[in-house]
Amino acid sequence: MSENESVHASEAQIAVHWQEEELYYPSAEFVAQANMPDPAMHARFNLDNFPQCFKEYADLLSWYQYWHTMLDTSDPPSWKWFVGGKINASYNCVDRHLPKYRNKAAFIYVPEPESEAHIVLTYQELYNRVNEVAHILRDFAGLKAGDRVTLHLPMVLELPITMLACARLGVIHSVVFGGFSGKSCGERIADSGSRVLITIDGYYRSGNLLDHKVKSDEAIQTSENQGQVVDKVLVWRRHQGKSASESPMIEDRDYFMDQLLEDHSGKTVEPVPMPAEAPLFLMYTSGTTGKPKGCQHSTGGYLAYVTGTSHCIQDIHPEDVYWCMADIGWITGHSYIVYGPLALAATSVLYEGVPTCPDPGRPWRIAERLNVNIFHTAPTAIRMLRKAGPEEPAKYNYEFKHMTTVGEPIEPEVWRWYYDVVGKGKAVIVDTWWQTETGGFLCSTTPAIQPMKPGSTGPNVPGIHPVIYDEDGKELERGSRKAGNICIQNPWPGAFQTIWGDHERYISTYYARYNKDPDSKDWRDWPYFTGDAAVLAEDGYYRILGRIDDVINVAGHRLGTKEVESACLEVPEIAEAAVVPLADEIKGKVPDVYVSLRPGYEASKEIEHAVEAAIETNIGKIARPKHVYIVPDMPKTRSGKIMRRVLAAISNGQDIGDVSTLANTEIVESVLEMVQGQQG
Ligand code: WTA
Repeated sequence: MSENESVHASEAQIAVHWQEEELYYPSAEFVAQANMPDPAMHARFNLDNFPQCFKEYADLLSWYQYWHTMLDTSDPPSWKWFVGGKINASYNCVDRHLPKYRNKAAFIYVPEPESEAHIVLTYQELYNRVNEVAHILRDFAGLKAGDRVTLHLPMVLELPITMLACARLGVIHSVVFGGFSGKSCGERIADSGSRVLITIDGYYRSGNLLDHKVKSDEAIQTSENQGQVVDKVLVWRRHQGKSASESPMIEDRDYFMDQLLEDHSGKTVEPVPMPAEAPLFLMYTSGTTGKPKGCQHSTGGYLAYVTGTSHCIQDIHPEDVYWCMADIGWITGHSYIVYGPLALAATSVLYEGVPTCPDPGRPWRIAERLNVNIFHTAPTAIRMLRKAGPEEPAKYNYEFKHMTTVGEPIEPEVWRWYYDVVGKGKAVIVDTWWQTETGGFLCSTTPAIQPMKPGSTGPNVPGIHPVIYDEDGKELERGSRKAGNICIQNPWPGAFQTIWGDHERYISTYYARYNKDPDSKDWRDWPYFTGDAAVLAEDGYYRILGRIDDVINVAGHRLGTKEVESACLEVPEIAEAAVVPLADEIKGKVPDVYVSLRPGYEASKEIEHAVEAAIETNIGKIARPKHVYIVPDMPKTRSGKIMRRVLAAISNGQDIGDVSTLANTEIVESVLEMVQGQQG
């Protein structure tokens, strides 16, 4: 093992080893109604039919101008899909449904407090509201196609409405997850070059009305420090006419949306026909360095891909009631709450709060009341609901036909509870593996055609052709039982176009690893590197083991270890910090933090708390560590690199392996003692 490898502590290395599992088959009833019951579909999407196969997805959309070139590969790895095409995402998600579905619900909004009434937003009303907001963005905020705007909003109807208003104008939205700190938001404002921030006064979370607007003050300060001035802050209000925030409104900068709307009521805005290749949005995600990457997604390719996969894999019909519990602030929400489902004229449930509020029966009560039949969530939520209320689903009279899991590997035992208890043994499950960068699903069973296997994501979805390489670029065959780096051989329309402002990093992170000829114009020479480790079974099913890089997947959300480490270093007493993934019963993985102090300081509870607080302010509560260990020194190689692998093994109670080459072997023993003592 090279030194470089030995200092890494990846999720894949601490993955659990599972046995082969039995297969589960979809019911005849499910197959009979499925959008994609045709086993020939995978053959239609094989590599011989690449890239023309994707016409099938593009034809689910309405184009102002049909494209002339399916895929332009003249400048690898910048793939251009549907070249020559003109399209508008807002038109496809809203306007085109009006003749048939004007009075059908697009969204049914469920506020967290059970005492507040549901809000039903029909397609007609969605159209009205998107138009009014687009009018404000264009005529009041002066935004036009190609401008970026940052949305720091929680799960409220105003979030998809504002996104679609941006899309209507060709304005590029950058949604920052509501739970992120003001500082995180500010860094994303600066990186994207937004001069408008759209936020809300407050929202409900775990029974409390949180002050959210207060974060905008810090966001704007952070952004200004980085040279980007915000000249308008548009503030939605959770309860019209009342303010849930202590933060003052700044004159000539901050405006309440409900007040602005008084002048824009009933206004309409023609959707702007955008080139297929125009960016639709940015979505920031964590990578190996401290700076989050703004993944830039296209309009035509992205929309075609999420619509196609919502149709074939999510099996969404306009008659269904679909509920994806993800937050719209993550890619799952963008692709599989907003763009894919709305393009198919779905009826979606939008839930404001946490699934266990006020009790773990809440999701099943909502499902019963609204007749939800497609349910979409993540292993962390499934584990939490299973722990808090294993018997709850049986008490409610709902019936799912289809359920999704996404975001991290699901343990077979948890999968079986999802299948037997939540799905009542009737619903199919798709375990969808994909990433912020990939726009939509990469691997999953196609539910009416392929059986399920607990713990495996499944085979590839149509048109995606994965390959697993070892460190030397040799392909690992089916059934080899060896884990390697899973890559995708071919481009696909949902793939992101670049990292905003850093095309070099796009190439080096995702395409350089297995490219042998940087001058090649052949897409076959540019496998997409996912950063995940995987094993391919004899039957063609992939099992994902986790990240091989410095990313920790916490409850399905990506955190860069470097981001967390640099937050720790903001505490003046801290000399060095190392963050490793710790396996967690509910969240999958959580960060475990090791810090050493500068000379002259003593370990104390205050320092531990200061480290926790720094992480919360710099990133947000989701990054909160399980432990903060103040160690006398870090285990280090002779060249001075921190051995995160050793720390990860200690945190997870695993074999530490050979430490004889360390510069300071004696430190391992004392760190081990300290951790065993504190974990008790
Ligand atoms: C992990 C979320 C196993 C994986 C859509 C990936 C999964 C990272 C699965 C991307 C799954 C996602 N099984 N692992 N079904 N889905 N992952 O960008 O490590 O937030 O690289 O996108 O989550 O996380 P991201």
